Amino acid sequence: MSSRSSGPAGRWSAGPLGFSTRGRNPVKELFGKLADGTEIHRWSLENGGTRMKVLSYGGIVQSLRTPDREGRYADISLGFDTVEDYVAGSPYFGALIGRYGNRIGAGRFTLDGTEYRLSVNDGDNSLHGGAAGFDRAVWDVEPFTDGPDVGLRLSHTSADGEQGYPGTLDVRVTYTLTGRGAWRVDYEATTDKATVVNLTSHVYWNLAGEGSGSVHDHELTIAASRYTPVDSGLIPTGEPVEVAGTPFDFRTGKTVGADLREADRQLLYAKGFDHNWVLDKGATAGPEWVATLTDPASGRTLKIATTEPGLQFYSGNFLDGTLVGPTGRSYRQGDALCLETQHFPDSPNKPSYPSTLLRPGQTYRSTTIHSFT
Ligand code: BGC
Repeated sequence: MSSRSSGPAGRWSAGPLGFSTRGRNPVKELFGKLADGTEIHRWSLENGGTRMKVLSYGGIVQSLRTPDREGRYADISLGFDTVEDYVAGSPYFGALIGRYGNRIGAGRFTLDGTEYRLSVNDGDNSLHGGAAGFDRAVWDVEPFTDGPDVGLRLSHTSADGEQGYPGTLDVRVTYTLTGRGAWRVDYEATTDKATVVNLTSHVYWNLAGEGSGSVHDHELTIAASRYTPVDSGLIPTGEPVEVAGTPFDFRTGKTVGADLREADRQLLYAKGFDHNWVLDKGATAGPEWVATLTDPASGRTLKIATTEPGLQFYSGNFLDGTLVGPTGRSYRQGDALCLETQHFPDSPNKPSYPSTLLRPGQTYRSTTIHSFT
């Protein structure tokens, strides 16, 4: 076994089934069942001091635990305790997002002369792949250990025409916990017809621990000089604009709450930050650093590196106190934030944006690394 466990042995694994991970990693248990009887499994893995639980439903990161500066563990991602809660109405807590992360305007696009109409689930627009996106798919999950790494290989085939998208899409996502406790996500997809693809992960971060209150005191840095302004439906209006002199300037780091209440039209449209930052590094062959999130109180820091050209920073604006997490506390506006690495929203309708087109014979590839200290 290549994993290196840390922290008090045996304390982390007390799940509802009382299983122990000692000597086995990753470990699988039955988490629940869908209404049609489909079994949903939960995989627990740990490495380099990071502990993670992943569901076969939606590839959901149900829990991600890291130590604070005193070595005390907390779950720093929002989630639920039961499959039923996820099915009943999760705002994509921890889920894999596809086929198209973020919005496609009016739920339609034209490719090679054919117009495709997508599942519309956000006003007039299609959000996160439509009403039944990858967050609701049951993924095949295979565990692996590889040198110092442990992880899970998730795969899913989306049928031609699903949610309105052309092409049979074969998707493989690898979650790796590295020997240093980083969580690496590698995405790959192939198609049998020209289509569009934009995969991401939708973890809601609260570095003080889920259910502990607002993240407005977290400090955020984003390596982006421009962002894409949106209309009232949160569809980009067109060309990126400079962040300089606006609340969107996170280049040198500031608290999430610092400018959140400014009467800036863009913030009013989204009830906060819910925009795509145009990363200065652009699309890159290998993952490069783009953002750092720090909670000064706990000392936890999350660093993100990616191959993607864009980052959606969503400040948890639509959390409204109606959902309750595993610690029994409700989630209110601003109790978490998402940092979704991606291509830009509505790219299929914006020829000037980096292309999200995937043709037969090509392989879509994307990598994002989350490092915790
Ligand atoms: C979007 C938000 C949306 C949220 C879903 C984010 O990625 O940008 O607008 O409300 O996902 O909960």
